[in-house]
Amino acid sequence: MNRRQFFATAAATGPAASSATSSGSRDFSTVRADFPRARTAAYLDNASCHPLSVHTAAALHRYIDWASKEVGEPWWPDWAQARTEAKTLFAKLINAKPSEIAFARSTIEAESNLLNGMAIQASGGNVVTNDLHYSAAIYNYRMRQKDGLEVRIVKHRDWQIDIRDMERAVDRNTRLIAIALVSNVNGYLHDVSKLSELAHANGAYLYADIIQCAGAIPIDVRAMGIDLAACSTYKWLMGVKGFGFLYVREDLQGSVVRPVQHSGGVRFNYAPWVEQPDTGLDEIAFSPVTGPSCYEVSYPSYEGAICALESLKYIHRLGVENIRAHVRALTTRLQKEMPAAGYPSITPPDNESPIVAFAAKDPQRAMEKLRKAGVHAAMRFRNKMRISPSVFNNQEDVDRLLEALA
Ligand SMILES: Cc1ncc(COP(=O)(O)O)c(C=O)c1O
Repeated sequence: MNRRQFFATAAATGPAASSATSSGSRDFSTVRADFPRARTAAYLDNASCHPLSVHTAAALHRYIDWASKEVGEPWWPDWAQARTEAKTLFAKLINAKPSEIAFARSTIEAESNLLNGMAIQASGGNVVTNDLHYSAAIYNYRMRQKDGLEVRIVKHRDWQIDIRDMERAVDRNTRLIAIALVSNVNGYLHDVSKLSELAHANGAYLYADIIQCAGAIPIDVRAMGIDLAACSTYKWLMGVKGFGFLYVREDLQGSVVRPVQHSGGVRFNYAPWVEQPDTGLDEIAFSPVTGPSCYEVSYPSYEGAICALESLKYIHRLGVENIRAHVRALTTRLQKEMPAAGYPSITPPDNESPIVAFAAKDPQRAMEKLRKAGVHAAMRFRNKMRISPSVFNNQEDVDRLLEALA
């Protein structure tokens, strides 16, 4: 298969090939057939790692075929096109401009790079976060605290963040409020507009880790007032690890957030590199990368971009509102029936995220029961059972989980 055939096939086998994914459809019954994982288990742990759809797996197989049998020059234009398209579809997903999106290798790395680029410590500013942010992000802040950065970590109250606690923590020296928009602990969805108002009223910026919600619930960075965001693709974007996206509001690029990894090239402007040196240029002239790519170094993963493109097409085709509605029916039932089965919820009622979590009295025994029944959920933080259904799950998966625990 040559490159042109590859791209033609990739375009033809997207979500359009699935009859269940016609735009605006709320019938998810045939979506299940797109995810082989649904046949091997009641897989309800998408917040850990989402399985690939057959469409994304096929795109990856085509890439592997190409990489093993055909790799070589010229290749740049075709792959560049796939990468650009993935950025555009991600921008559309969060209502950003493509010129505000960079590739990232990991959510945590992206957040760390943003912090470095904002030079908060040097300016004497502080960062406000909370204990429902991802633990590796908190670790990152704690390490910086040791280095002298002032970090304020607000504690949750009954598994929710009280905006008044955040208000008490923020002051005129706050440069950044950093949150996980949806918490990996219990799916708590922050009141992001209030946090954005709070940040902006104090001259600070709002960073949202969106890995536990991009692709699962609608995100509108403009309406929500999010200035900076990042996510990988291996959860609700149905892609692979080691690849993701970074959003930096256009007017903050290069000014408020400086690139900390130098990306670009140099031109040797002297013989024997050039016959006629350009007298208007330095001997070694810089060609910096401009736009959001200034936050990228070297080649972003092609495998990641191929999968992201295929999955983003699929998600757009299904419609994020439809995805949310489908998953909501499952989480609402879990919120009702798990407490009745002896597993009190630690997720607030009416929470709009795809994650629900429950306290287990005997976590080991509960996991044994699930394993025996071929049900996958996560047990985190000693005894918190996290259940995270997605597009391919149905009420029978929930039946299986509830029956196993009964
Ligand atoms: C909220 C949250 N942020 C960040 C991460 C880690 O993301 P990455 O592997 O992209 O750095 C996770 C992983 O589970 C997560 O749940």
